[in-house]
Amino acid sequence: MAELILGVMISGRGSNLQALIDACASPDYPARIAIVIANIPGAGGLARAEAAGIPTATIAHRDFPTREGFESEISAALKGAGVELVCLAGFMRLLTPAFVETWRDRLINIHPSLLPAYKGLDSHARALADGVRFTGCTVHFVRPEMDVGPIVAQAAVPVLSGDDEDALAARVLAAEHRCYPLAVRLIAEGRVRISDERALIDRAATPDRALFNPAED
Ligand code: GRF
Repeated sequence: MAELILGVMISGRGSNLQALIDACASPDYPARIAIVIANIPGAGGLARAEAAGIPTATIAHRDFPTREGFESEISAALKGAGVELVCLAGFMRLLTPAFVETWRDRLINIHPSLLPAYKGLDSHARALADGVRFTGCTVHFVRPEMDVGPIVAQAAVPVLSGDDEDALAARVLAAEHRCYPLAVRLIAEGRVRISDERALIDRAATPDRALFNPAED
């Protein structure tokens, strides 16, 4: 099967980018990263891409008077690299409806909560404040509204009684690093179809039991 060509957009340290780089290094993984784009000069993830020999571009939003100008530069770089699927991985700028439309159903994001719960920033602090027993992460297709769109994959993570934000974030991040490569693989294998704004997965392996937190005695 031909490899799906990815573009990854980052703003920061790029640990999810690294998870995708590592997945793509496996010979049987059906995708490869053609370009990494950062909107913040010197973003930590750029060094990860360079270390892996992946072309990078820094397109700093500050250099553009308008959002449209910024985004058309990004789209041009993605198209120039032949990108078929754009992966937002800690990209901290809201994208305009026009950009989202240009890449409709070819643009995914990872968010550190079980959407539709805890959209936006500070999802772990809010989960802790609410005393929920599970949180997690979500990979979803991007729509103009923030943290909305058909869900490809989620991972549920228990919230433990001694957790602070850092401990919970670390547990969720470890799940993110498995969830993003899984979601990209499913898309690359042609197993994801959007119907009625839900992502349907062909031949999905599904868990067969409920998780309890606290566990049943
Ligand atoms: C992750 O928690 C991701 O879910 C969120 O931003 C964070 C990015 O982390 N969208 P990293 O840059 O991938 O390490």
